[in-house]
Amino acid sequence: MPETLRYAGIVGVGAYAPQRVLTNEDLERMVETSNEWILERTGIRERRIAAPEQASSDLALAAAREALAQAGVAPEELDLVIVATNSPDMFFPATACLVQDALGARRAGAFDVSAGCTGFIYALSIGSQFIMTGAAEKVLVAGADSLSKMVNWEDRGTCILFGDAAGAVVLEPVPEGYGVLSFCLRADGSGGPLLTLPAGGSRLPASHETVDRKLHTIHMQGREIFKFAVRVMGEVALEVLRKAGVGPERVGCLIPHQANLRIIEAAAKRLGLGMDRVFVNLDRYGNTSAASIPVALKEALDGGYIRPGDYVVMVAFGTGLTWGGALVRWLPEERRGILPTDRRRNPESFSKAKFPVGGRGILPTDRRRNPESFSKAKFPVGEVCGC
Ligand code: UT7
Repeated sequence: MPETLRYAGIVGVGAYAPQRVLTNEDLERMVETSNEWILERTGIRERRIAAPEQASSDLALAAAREALAQAGVAPEELDLVIVATNSPDMFFPATACLVQDALGARRAGAFDVSAGCTGFIYALSIGSQFIMTGAAEKVLVAGADSLSKMVNWEDRGTCILFGDAAGAVVLEPVPEGYGVLSFCLRADGSGGPLLTLPAGGSRLPASHETVDRKLHTIHMQGREIFKFAVRVMGEVALEVLRKAGVGPERVGCLIPHQANLRIIEAAAKRLGLGMDRVFVNLDRYGNTSAASIPVALKEALDGGYIRPGDYVVMVAFGTGLTWGGALVRWLPEERRGILPTDRRRNPESFSKAKFPVGGRGILPTDRRRNPESFSKAKFPVGEVCGC
C-alpha cells in the first residue's frame, strides 16, 4: 500500500450502441403517442435497440475493448472489471464475469454494481478507490444496459424513453490534482416503488401469473421521478464541487444522465451553468440507463468538448432511488490519444452547435441526420455477436 492516497484518472473511454434505430415515428405506430409529444416532453428523437441475440455483456464488451485500446492497456493487465447494469445477462453469473472472460482479463476480479441509472457513478467511485489506495493499478469500469428487453412495449409512459448502449472507461493512477477529485453517492430506498421491475426476483419469482401481468417489465411513476430528479441533480453537482473546493464557474463540461432534456436544463440552471457547457446526446440515444454517462463522455471527448485540464462534472439519478455525482479533472496533456488534437474544442462552433428541441444544448449533430453512418463511424457495430 502507498503511504498516501493516489489520484485515479480516466485514461481510455469506449462506447457502443446497437445498430437498430427506433424513431419517434416508429413509436407512433406502436402506441398512442406522437413525435411532438416525445420531443417536447423529453428531447428524445430516436434510440438504439439491441438485436435479439445481443445481451448487455455484448454491448459492454465492445465498449470495453475500445476503452482498453485507447488506454493502451491489455486485458491481462486489468486488476478489476466492474460493470454497472440494470439489465444483466442473467441473475448470475455477474455480467462483469462474462465481460472479464470474453476480454481475457485473466488476472482481474469482476463484479456488477446495481444502482439504477446512477450505476456508472457508483462504479466509477468504487473503481477509483481501488486505484487511490494502491489496491489496483488498472481498473475497467463499464455501464451497460439493454432495457429494451425489459420494457412493456404497450406502455407509452416508459417505452418511449429507453434505449440500449454501453460505455466503458479505464482507470489508472494519474498525477496529483487530476482524475477523480470528489464524488457523492446518495440513496433513498423509500422511493423504490416509483421505478421497479417487480417480478423475477425472490419476492415475486417468475410464474405464469407474473408473466401474464407483465410484472417482468419496467413500472414507473414518471412524474414523481421527474420531480425527484429536478431536485437532486443540481444539488449533487454542487456537492461534488463543494467537496473539491471548485466553483461552478470553473466547470468545463457537465455530463448529466441523459434522461430528459428538461431535467438536464434544470440541473444546469441550478449550477448557474449555460447550456453551452452541458453535453446532451439523448436525442439520439434516449435514456440508456447505466450507459448514459460513459457514452456521453465518449462523445464529448470525440467532439472536442473536453479539453486537457478541464473540470468535468458527471451527475445521475435513477431507481433505488439513487443519485450521485463525480468531479473529474481531465489530464493535463494528451495521453494515449484520449484527446485527439484535430477535434479540439472550438468555442465558437461549440456554442453554435445544433440543439435537439429548438432549445439549447451541445450536440455534435453533424452526424445525427444519418444515424447509420454515425454508428458505423463511431462504434464497432457488428463486432459482437456476429451481427
Ligand atoms: O433514469 C430514470 C428513468 N426515469 C425517468 O427519467 C423519468 C422521468 N420522468 C419523465 O421524464 C417525465 O415524467 C415523462 C417524460 C415520463 C412524462 O412527462 P410528463 O410531462 O411528466 O407527463 P405526465 O406523466 O405528467 O403525463 C402528461 C400527460 C398524461 O395525460 P393526461 O393525464 O394529462 O391526460 C399522460 O397520460 O401525457 C400523457 N402521456 C403521453 N402522451 C403521449 C404519457 N406518456 C405519453 C406519451 N405520448 N408517450
